[in-house]
Amino acid sequence: MARRKIIAGNWKMNMTPSEAVALCDTLKDLVKNDEVDVVYCVPAIDIVPVAQAVKGSNVHVGAENFYIEDKGAYTGEISAPMLKDAGVEFVIIGHSERREYFKEDDCFLNKKVKKAFEAGITPILCCGESLEQREMDVTMDWIRLQIKSDLAGVTADQVKSMVIAYEPIWAIGTGKTATSDQAQEVCKGIRDLIAEMYDADTAEAVRIQYGGSMNAGNAAELLSKPDIDGGLIGGASLKPDFGKIVNYNK
Ligand code: 13P
Repeated sequence: MARRKIIAGNWKMNMTPSEAVALCDTLKDLVKNDEVDVVYCVPAIDIVPVAQAVKGSNVHVGAENFYIEDKGAYTGEISAPMLKDAGVEFVIIGHSERREYFKEDDCFLNKKVKKAFEAGITPILCCGESLEQREMDVTMDWIRLQIKSDLAGVTADQVKSMVIAYEPIWAIGTGKTATSDQAQEVCKGIRDLIAEMYDADTAEAVRIQYGGSMNAGNAAELLSKPDIDGGLIGGASLKPDFGKIVNYNK
């Protein structure tokens, strides 16, 4: 069965609640496409107004972060059950910005992946190499390490339902996109790894996105590759151009 494409925006730390509602309004008609899943991963404070604004549309709401405990004395944190109750269906885990700036390591990320599943939220698990790692030719070794650690103890059925995002760090926010062949090569490498860790059915089912300076001009070519099942889009998800990415096949 063909995998359904999934195009997700990662708004990062952008959009006040009122700006968020205005953006949903601007994008409403532009992101209609029955053939793909569309997700807005938004800052925590925007989740409730965005869930309200996209109600009844084809847009799913995603979060960018949560803490691994369900509740308690963790001042300032938000739990997975809170996200779920607010209407969140997807959550980004392991983004390179959280790995780098907030020192989230693979052991912690593994706990987050399991907690997301426990709460009934689909993880979008990010992985990707630095420019230095690519130049040293250790890209796939690094990504294998990340995925093996992040998915330790995660079942085949869970993996089948989740999303993995390949985001080369050197392509994020730089305007420097991986070529479609480079992106395809790593996405295929990830799928082969899943086959190795689980089985062929699981590898066939898991959806793998590319992320890193994806835009209206390069989306169609990236998404034409056999192992690229979608995109995780930063900058271009905040503009009407996001509608063009969602409708890359029109
Ligand atoms: P840009 O699309 O802005 O490069 O960001 C990619 C990204 O980090 C998505 O998670």
